[in-house]
Amino acid sequence: MTAERGIPRQAVILVGGEGTRLRPVTSRVPKPVAPVVERPFVAYILDNLARHGVERAIFSTGFLADAIEAVIGDGSGYGLEVSYAVEAEPLGTAGAIANCDGLLDDGPFYVFNGDVLSDVDLSALAATHAAKGGMGTIFLTPVEDPRRYGLVELREDGAVASFLEKPGEWEGTALINAGVYVLEPEVLEMIPRGRLFSIERGVFPKLAAAGSLYGYVDHGYWRDIGTPDSYLQAHFDILERQVDTSVGDVLGEQYLYVAPTAEVTPGARIVPPCYVADGARVGAGARIGPLAVLGAGAVVGEGATVVEAVIQAGVIIGAHAQVEGSILVQGSSVGAGTQLSGAVLGEGCVVGAGNRLAGGICVYPDTELPDNSIQFYEQLRGREGI
Ligand code: GTP
Repeated sequence: MTAERGIPRQAVILVGGEGTRLRPVTSRVPKPVAPVVERPFVAYILDNLARHGVERAIFSTGFLADAIEAVIGDGSGYGLEVSYAVEAEPLGTAGAIANCDGLLDDGPFYVFNGDVLSDVDLSALAATHAAKGGMGTIFLTPVEDPRRYGLVELREDGAVASFLEKPGEWEGTALINAGVYVLEPEVLEMIPRGRLFSIERGVFPKLAAAGSLYGYVDHGYWRDIGTPDSYLQAHFDILERQVDTSVGDVLGEQYLYVAPTAEVTPGARIVPPCYVADGARVGAGARIGPLAVLGAGAVVGEGATVVEAVIQAGVIIGAHAQVEGSILVQGSSVGAGTQLSGAVLGEGCVVGAGNRLAGGICVYPDTELPDNSIQFYEQLRGREGI
């Protein structure tokens, strides 16, 4: 096996899953293009790939494929060429990679799970891959509770000794499969065509047994955005510049961006870290932030409070409403005086005045709650009451 390997110029991005755990954020918008600080999520992945010399990305799509293509198009807005391999039925993580076969050239390629936010040094991953000379190299990251991930143990030479997918029981920190790989094209030959096949269960254990799978450990920023809590936290991390992104560059040393077209009434307070997008309007006496994103054209009424929250485009928040630890998907609205703590409102939800929703409640799209219809006080997030 040769140690002389080329740097990958191509990538497969897996974006065909239904994103069920992130509903109702993903009820109508596929997870890969769900807005994260006003950008389609996968734009952050494309930025990182382009930064490390990748020229072509192939999106492996299935669920809501057209919606992804409508947002990302040919990739010209993101500095690389994007094409699409669409599945009629979900093929699993390996089947989905094999489905891109005709669009890949015969060099090594990166694979990215389409829900991973990371500024991992891809060039260092590729250099490790080239130096070790295996068929695949996995980016590994340490996590405290690894039970919903694939656990990886390494030998001293960096080869993967064992691969354990989603163990029921585990105590303590462990290295997990971070959902980013470099693979040699020969790996495609191990994948049966046209049927469900998992890379984590069907390919990696075999490569590991053959001594041809290596790990690259990176202690930098990593998070998957697959649940409402982690989606919210990803926003906070970008606002706090814990991960290197173009949005962080815009926020700068003040950790603050207020678009020139936003209207902030004198007397309203914008508390960093905070991002206020184009055409957003903030009423007198309102407070936005810390850790808040106000989407394009969103309206916050006078005296309202928005703290540690994601308010997507076009959302309307009534006067003196209080929103904390919550996600309001585009087109939803909240009436005067309503309090939200740890709530997720789906697209088009209308929550009338005088309600109180808390404790991780998810309200599905287009639900209408009349004025004064719900008083839910439980605080699962452990924050002080609002
Ligand atoms: P949940 O339904 O909430 O588990 O989310 P998910 O559908 O995204 O599944 P998961 O988080 O396990 O998937 C990891 C990545 O692989 C995501 O970016 C998915 O879009 C992608 N993915 C999972 N299964 C498939 C598949 O069958 N085909 C394709 N093309 N991508 C997939």
